[in-house]
Amino acid sequence: MASNSVIATLIVMICVLVGVGIGLGVYYGVDWDDDDGGTVPFDGLEGMERFDCYPEDGGSKEACESRGCVWGETNVAGAPYCYYHPTDYGYKMIDEPTTTKLGWKVRLGRKNTPQRYGMAADTIQIEIEMQTDKRLHFKITDPLTERFEVPLEIPKPAEQALNPEYEVSYTKDPFSLQVTRVSTNTVIFNTSVGGLTYEDQFLQISTLLPSSNIYGFGEHNHRRFRLDLNWKTWGIFTRDVAPVDAWNLYGHHPFYMCVEDGGNTHGVFLLNSNAMDIVLQPTPALTYRTIGGVLDFYIFTGPTPEQVIQQYGEVIGRPVMVPYWSLGFQLSRWNYGNLTRVKEVWSSMIEAGIPYDVQYGDIDYMDEKKDFTYDKVAYAGLPEFVDDVHAHGQKYIIILDHCIKVEDGYHAYETGLSPNVYVLDPQGSDPIVGEVWPGDSVYPDFTNPDAQTWWTTLCKDFHDVIPYDALWIDMNEPSNFIRGSTAEGECLDNRWNYPPYLPNLLIEDGKIFTKTICMDAQHHAGKHYDFHSLYGHTMTEMTFETIKTVFPEKRSLVFTRSSFAGTGKYGQHWLGDNQSFWEHIWWSIVGMFEFNMFGFPYIGADICGFWFNTTEEMCWRWMQTGAFYPYARNHNGDGMIPQHPTAFSTEMAVMSRDILMHRYRMLPYLYTLFYHAHEDSSTVVRPLLNEFASDPMTYDVDRQFLWGPAFMISPVLESKTYNVEVYFPDTRWYDYYEGTEMTEQRGKISLLPAPMDRLNLHVRGGYVLPTQQPANTTVYSRLNPLGLIVALDDGHEAHGDLFWDDGESRDTYENGVYTLLDFSVSEGILSMTVMVDGYTDPNALRFDDIVIYGADNYVEGTDVTITAAETESTLPVDNVEFDDVKNVLKLSGLDLDMMTDFTIKWI
Ligand code: NOJ
Repeated sequence: MASNSVIATLIVMICVLVGVGIGLGVYYGVDWDDDDGGTVPFDGLEGMERFDCYPEDGGSKEACESRGCVWGETNVAGAPYCYYHPTDYGYKMIDEPTTTKLGWKVRLGRKNTPQRYGMAADTIQIEIEMQTDKRLHFKITDPLTERFEVPLEIPKPAEQALNPEYEVSYTKDPFSLQVTRVSTNTVIFNTSVGGLTYEDQFLQISTLLPSSNIYGFGEHNHRRFRLDLNWKTWGIFTRDVAPVDAWNLYGHHPFYMCVEDGGNTHGVFLLNSNAMDIVLQPTPALTYRTIGGVLDFYIFTGPTPEQVIQQYGEVIGRPVMVPYWSLGFQLSRWNYGNLTRVKEVWSSMIEAGIPYDVQYGDIDYMDEKKDFTYDKVAYAGLPEFVDDVHAHGQKYIIILDHCIKVEDGYHAYETGLSPNVYVLDPQGSDPIVGEVWPGDSVYPDFTNPDAQTWWTTLCKDFHDVIPYDALWIDMNEPSNFIRGSTAEGECLDNRWNYPPYLPNLLIEDGKIFTKTICMDAQHHAGKHYDFHSLYGHTMTEMTFETIKTVFPEKRSLVFTRSSFAGTGKYGQHWLGDNQSFWEHIWWSIVGMFEFNMFGFPYIGADICGFWFNTTEEMCWRWMQTGAFYPYARNHNGDGMIPQHPTAFSTEMAVMSRDILMHRYRMLPYLYTLFYHAHEDSSTVVRPLLNEFASDPMTYDVDRQFLWGPAFMISPVLESKTYNVEVYFPDTRWYDYYEGTEMTEQRGKISLLPAPMDRLNLHVRGGYVLPTQQPANTTVYSRLNPLGLIVALDDGHEAHGDLFWDDGESRDTYENGVYTLLDFSVSEGILSMTVMVDGYTDPNALRFDDIVIYGADNYVEGTDVTITAAETESTLPVDNVEFDDVKNVLKLSGLDLDMMTDFTIKWI
C-alpha cells in the first residue's frame, strides 16, 4: 500500500506541475515542454522521488549543477542532495518510430545534458521487440559506435508476439518508456523518472517499481530474500571474496523478480557483463549504472514467479541435468593433510553407516598446488584410493584452479604457450602474469577456441592418472593474490584500469583490478574490462565441453565458483566460503532461493561452514538443514577443526545417518524436480512465495524452504533453540514423519517443537511424492523398492510424477531414454499411468509401500482393490493399516511393477 501511495503522489505531483502528459498511451510520463516551447517551472523534488546524480564522495552544489542536475538539501533520510531533473536531463526522440519485424525502433538525441565523464553518445537508438506474449526485449545502443555486447546466444522468434500480456508506451521529450501489464493496468517498468545517460563508460537508466517486493540480483549475501529498498547500492562484478558483508561476490546476475500487488509477478534481466551498480530506493524504484556494454533488457510477465523464472530460463538456457549420484551426500575439506587421513575419515563414515556418495580432493591433493599433478608423497596411492571409492559405489571429485603456474618444464604451462592460450598483457604479446596458489601464474583464456583442445587434453590425460568423476573449478572470478600483474607493478594508467566512474565494488584504493588482473588485459574475444565477469562462465562452458570428451557416455558435473547469467546450462555452483556462524545457515536459504532464480537449481552452502571452527551443536543443526540442500556437501576450510559427521559424538553420527536416510528416501522426488528444472527451468528449492504469490504473508518467508511445490523444510537456525516458527499457507499440510494433519496451524505462523533430534518436514496436500527405500549410496538405494507419499488436499485429490532413467547416461531426456510416471488421485482412487516408457530399469523396480495422508474419507475395514495389467485383486487386510486419529492409511506389500499402469481404490 505504501508503495502505491508513493507512486500516486509522484504522479499527482508531476501532473500538477505540467498539466496533462502527452505521448502515445502515456502513463506516468509527461511532456515537460509547455505549449510555447519553454520549460515548465520546476519546484524540486522532496526526497523519495529523487534519483542520485552524485553517487561519488564529494558532491557539492557546483559539482552537481555542472552535471546538469539539481541540488537541494532534504530531510528524507538516505535521499540524495544532488538529483536528476526529471525532464531537462536525458534524451528525446528525434524522429518517429519505424516498424521492425518484431516491434519498432527510434533514434534518440541527447538533450542539453552536459557530458559527465566524457564520450557521451549524442544519438542513441532504442529497439523494442515483442518477442513472445510474455517476453519483451528492448535494447539501447549507440548506432554510430560499435560497443561491447555479451556474446550470449539468445533465441529470437521469427514473428512478433500476437497477444502480448504487456503494452509498451513512451514519452517523446524527454524520452521515457513504460511497460504495462494489460490484465491489471499495472505499470511494471517505467523510466519516466529521468536520468537516462549513455556515455562510453557510464550508462544509466532508472525505473519505478510497482511494489517493494523485489527479489534477486547477485551474487551477494543479501541476508534477506526480499531486498531492502532503503537506499541500498549493490555492486555487481565477479570477485573472490567470502559471502560475509554487502559485497559483490563471485557471480554476476543482473536479474530480479517483482511480485506486484495482488501476486502477479514479473522479472527483468539486464544482459550486461560490465561492472555495475544496482541502486534500490524506497520510492520504490531502482537504477542501473553500468560502466560499459549496452542497455539490453528482457522483461518477463510471468504471471507466476515460477513462470517468470521459466521464461528467464528460455533466454539464458535451461539448467543442465545432473547425475543421480550427485544427489547423494558429499564430503570435502581443504587440507586433510594426507591420504591416510582422508582414508580414516572415509572409513569412519562407512562404518557409521552414513549415506555418502562423494569424496572430494581439494588443492592439497596437488603437487605444490599445480593443476594436473598430484602430491606423490602426502597423497601417494591416490589413484588406487579413487578405485576403492568407486568399488564402494562412490564418486571422487577433484578441484582445478583457473591458474597455471609459470614454470619451465611444467607440462600444463608449456603446452599452453604454443598456440598461446593465455590471457595476454595489454600489448597483446605475452601472457599476463598474476599470483595465485602455486605462485606466479598465467590465466587460461577460455574465450580462445585454441584453449579447448589444450584444456580437454590436460583434463583427459589427468583422468587417466586420477579417475575422477567430476570437476570442481575454483578461483575463476578470476582471482589474483596481487593487484593486476607482476610485470607492470599493478596496471597501466588508462581508462580501462581506472574507469572514470567506479561502481560500489569491494576494491582497494579505487582500483577495480583489486584481487584480479588488469582490465586492459587481452582475451581472444576482447578486453578483460568486458570479459572479467564472464571468465568463470567461459571456463565452465569450456570445461563442460571437456567433460563430454572425458565422459562421452556419462553425465558429470562442473562446479564453478564464478558464474554469469546462463552458466547453469553448463555447471553447478556452491555458495562459496561461508563461515561457521549460525546466521550463515539462514543466509544459505536465501542464497539457494536466489541461485534457483538464476538457473542453478543444484546449489548448496558448505555444510557446517568453511571458515572458523564450528561447534557440534551448530554442525548438528547444519547437517539437518544441509541434508535438504540440493547440493549437500560438508566442506571445511584449511586449519579448521574436523567437522565431518563422525568427527563429533556418536549421537551426531546417528542423527546425521538418520536425517540423510530421509533425504535418500526422498531422492526420486528430488530427481524428478531436477528433470523439471532441466525441462523448463522450474526451481528445485523454492520460497513459499513461488507457490503462494497471492498471499503476502509469504513475501518475507526465508527461514523455511520448499523442495518443488510440495515438501517443506523448516530448520532451526539458532543455538539452544528447541522450537521453530513455521508459516503454513492456507492449504492442507501434513507432518512428513507421522502424517498428522496441521489443522490448527493452517494459514498461520506456528511455533513447532524442534528438539535436537527433530527437523520439521511437512508435505503439502494435493501432491503425490515418489520415494525409495534408502541405502548408504545412491547406487544401492536405486536398487530398492519404490514408494509413494500421497497427501490429499481439501477435495481429496493429489497429483505427482516420477522421472526415472539410468541416472547417468547423457541426454536421456533429449533422447527419450527415460520413464515418466503420472500419479493422480481422485475419489479414493490412485491411478498410476506410464506416460513415457523409454527406460526399463534392469532391477525391475516395484512400488511396495504407499502411505496416504488426510484419508479422512476412508472407512475402516473397506477393501483396498488393486487393478494392474487388467487383473483386479484385493490387498490382504494385513497389508492395510489405518490410523483413524491421524487419518493415515498405509498400504504395504503392493509389489506393483513400475512399468505397468495400475489403480488402487480405497473407497
Ligand atoms: C576457495 C574455495 O572457495 C574453497 O572452497 C576451497 O577449499 C579453497 N579455495 C581451496 O581450494
